[in-house]
Amino acid sequence: RADSKVTINFINRDGEKITAKGSPGESLLDVVINQDLDFDGFGACEGTLACSTCHLIFDEDVYKKLGPVTDEEMDMLDLAYGLTDTSRLGCQICLTRSLDGITARVPDSVTDIRQSEDVSS
Ligand code: FES
Repeated sequence: RADSKVTINFINRDGEKITAKGSPGESLLDVVINQDLDFDGFGACEGTLACSTCHLIFDEDVYKKLGPVTDEEMDMLDLAYGLTDTSRLGCQICLTRSLDGITARVPDSVTDIRQSEDVSS
């Protein structure tokens, strides 16, 4: 097939569906950046596993296809706001043909642990 792109459907924080394409080998963060998807604060550490702003939530059947979670990703995921059983960090997920057509939901809020903002003030 000539078109080797992988289609990813993102659901943004407003519940809107955004369809984007990436190449196999790119991460979901790459797709967000390359397609200029405007998810506020997403991917703050540029994929260096130092934030959890690239938190994405998947359907269970998709989650199972995403491959194993490393300890480093798990540690960072633990800090993600609104963590679910099917959460992953987008910068750690590499596109493959088998992920064509999946849906990834951007959580309502993100926490960037590098910012120690006092929200109560
Ligand atoms: Fe920071 Fe993924 S972009 S952990």
